[in-house]
Amino acid sequence: MEQQVDLSVEIAGVTFSNPVIAASGTFGYGKEYAGMLDIGALGGICTKGLTLRPRQGNEGARIYETPAGLLNSIGLENPGIPAFIENELPGLKALGPNVIANLSGSTAAEYAEGAALLAEAGVDMIEVNISCPNVKAGGLAFGMDCESAALVTRSVRKAAPAVPLMVKLSPNAPDLCGIALACVNAGADALSLVNTFKAMAIDIDTLKPVFENIHAGLSGPCIHPIALRMVWEVYEALGRGSLPRVPLVGIGGIANARDAIEFLAAGAAAVEIGAATFAHPRAMTEVIAGIAAYLKEKNFSTVPDLTAHCRT
Ligand SMILES: Cc1cc2nc3c(=O)[nH]c(=O)nc-3n(C[C@H](O)[C@H](O)[C@H](O)COP(=O)(O)O)c2cc1C
Repeated sequence: MEQQVDLSVEIAGVTFSNPVIAASGTFGYGKEYAGMLDIGALGGICTKGLTLRPRQGNEGARIYETPAGLLNSIGLENPGIPAFIENELPGLKALGPNVIANLSGSTAAEYAEGAALLAEAGVDMIEVNISCPNVKAGGLAFGMDCESAALVTRSVRKAAPAVPLMVKLSPNAPDLCGIALACVNAGADALSLVNTFKAMAIDIDTLKPVFENIHAGLSGPCIHPIALRMVWEVYEALGRGSLPRVPLVGIGGIANARDAIEFLAAGAAAVEIGAATFAHPRAMTEVIAGIAAYLKEKNFSTVPDLTAHCRT
């Protein structure tokens, strides 16, 4: 008899039809990809980073390709949370996959206010991006130290007590595992990792940095093995303490099913796919099919079987 495969996964009480989610900032509000892939087949869609007030984003170059990756410096261009709720959320919900609102802010109070609006509007989950500059602390990202990461998590948790809360970790933090534990202790129901790596490029014609902010975020295949190591280590750290083992969502350089399966084996409950969609819009649906085929081939019936097999 042919092995039946159940691709569904549960993250923080939310059921996803499969473990593949479009990563924030790489899938617009979904409608931009209409006709290019079967959007309804995705497990979830993370929105572009949303802030309370509209943001124009950065001047100058915003995207730059490297041999095995992509640098970006978009600067959180978005219409603001109230306009998102009014103009984008209804269409996004109608697409089918779970809607995960990616939330940014410059102060903990701004995060909290935004979270309350998004929760009231009925998003399925909030993904708190703590990689953006903490204005009160002089521009350092909230995700760089345990105290600031916990402060934002606690503020969002308090403002939106019922919404499933996932905190997205920055790979640039000096103590990633410490920050992961601090976020769980402060009320995160899940963690996603990683965001982009701080990097840069220089234009050798002008001999000036390509990006106006000098630094940009690196993503794509070049970061995959490092991101995988980070998921492995955070999974391990969560098993050591007395805190709940919250689900992890692995992100970083996934281009095919094999890359995704590595994350699921390392301890991730699901994955997000970003840069790959730019080069190949159907990458995500091909990854879903590839995971299903792999589970069948290996005689596994569910996605968590992968983690169980690798991590015990
Ligand atoms: C153009 C672009 C825009 C992004 N915007 C956001 C964002 O608004 N919020 C966020 O949390 N991550 C953002 N990211 C990071 C991605 O969601 C993802 O964490 C990262 O790109 C690593 O995954 P990948 O290697 O599959 O692209 C962005 C990435 C890219 C390439």
